[in-house]
Amino acid sequence: MSAIFKQTRFAAVAILGLTLLADKGFAAPKSPIGGGSYQDIIVGGDLAQKGYVPCAVRYELIRPILDLYENKFTVLDVGALEGYFSLKIAQDYGAFCTMVEGGSSDQKGKLYSYAQDNLLTICKHNPQLNNIEMLAHRLTVPSLTKMAEQEHFDVVLAFLVVHLMASDDKGHISEDKVREFVDIFLSMGNDVIIETSTDCYLFVDTIVQEICKEKNGRYLGELPRVRNYKRPTRGRFYWFSQSDDRNGSNDVHGVSAETFVEFNGIYPQK
Ligand SMILES: C[S@@+](CC[C@H](N)C(=O)[O-])C[C@H]1O[C@@H](n2cnc3c(N)ncnc32)[C@H](O)[C@@H]1O
Repeated sequence: MSAIFKQTRFAAVAILGLTLLADKGFAAPKSPIGGGSYQDIIVGGDLAQKGYVPCAVRYELIRPILDLYENKFTVLDVGALEGYFSLKIAQDYGAFCTMVEGGSSDQKGKLYSYAQDNLLTICKHNPQLNNIEMLAHRLTVPSLTKMAEQEHFDVVLAFLVVHLMASDDKGHISEDKVREFVDIFLSMGNDVIIETSTDCYLFVDTIVQEICKEKNGRYLGELPRVRNYKRPTRGRFYWFSQSDDRNGSNDVHGVSAETFVEFNGIYPQK
């Protein structure tokens, strides 16, 4: 009897979940790894689908830094994927969030080739937010340098992306490249938060740890990286604070029209 009750309850919960997604007219994006999405997916301010990487705990870890801003602020979200962090920050803080995503459909067979298409779909499902934008661009050292010459952000998030940015076509990573990217992030943001991982190229974490010591950054701690994964894998968070000036502004906006075009801005359509 109780088994039947459990099954019925499970079916009811599943049907309710599917109905909620269908109500939002949202076809949940899939990722090639793990079947479901990587991040939790936010639609209309609500959780529409749970991803396989815990997101809410990571958000809670960085919130005390976001709380330091007295007014609205600007965010650059590098390698935004399904946009979880930008959508939450845009909703909760009224901050203007610029998402850059480099995973494009012309990178056939590559891990994140679905990412730009998914993110664009997710942006379109969040029309209530007029404080987000998406640049469909794969950042390189020269292009990020150019962006840093043109734009400045209050907060830069680079979560689990530095090892990918610094990889060459064969997957080799040089310490110089990691350092170059981190230096550019530091030049373009006031509060720069970098997440590394204990299972993807641990030496990238070692380099970021060293930079953290050199630049008086703060280690925020580590969190589980993947739900129900066979190996213990953690994300480590480093915070580089450039100044205590966190007035922000009530008139926040995205990148300039020129930067938007130059970096292939695709949302909102202009
Ligand atoms: C491991 S996922 C991390 C996603 C997200 N930042 C998080 O931590 O939840 C890395 C993301 O960065 C993107 N990416 C990798 N290299 C990039 C680059 N050079 N420029 C922009 N995005 C990049 C990938 O397409 C992918 O969406």
